[in-house]
Amino acid sequence: MKKKSTPRTAATAPSNVVAYLNQLLASSYALMVNTHFAHWNVEGPDFFSLHEAFQAHYENLFTAVDEIAERVRALNAYTIGGLSQFSRRAGFEELTEATTARDFVAALVVAHEKVVADAAALRDASGAANDAETQDIAIGRIQWHEKTIWMLRSFLK
Ligand SMILES: [Fe+2]
Repeated sequence: MKKKSTPRTAATAPSNVVAYLNQLLASSYALMVNTHFAHWNVEGPDFFSLHEAFQAHYENLFTAVDEIAERVRALNAYTIGGLSQFSRRAGFEELTEATTARDFVAALVVAHEKVVADAAALRDASGAANDAETQDIAIGRIQWHEKTIWMLRSFLK
């Protein structure tokens, strides 16, 4: 009888892929909270456009964190949790005080760039592990954040 090759199963997923997924979960969640805060507190002549843009961003992030977290579960591991842990691990400052529209956007650009770095680390780790499904999530996140960074930077010019 011909020996079948063993497919990679969820249970054999390398733990470093899970660690990178959890890191992306933390920074994405923290960015979602910061974006929601900016949505509520932004003021000035660009209020309407920024208020709406920030809403579109936190809605995208809300869907994304669920997809990232459920990929952790599909790999037979558990997610990290808790706002304080997400914030601690995020690698950028929590927004807690209202500021100008420009400063909100500038702070969000910094946070989006950190999330891109986390997604790129996940892309590389999942690629090395031949986990194309996780890599697909990472690449999709990078594409969305890079497009969003372009839009936010355009506002700052
Ligand atoms: Fe709202």
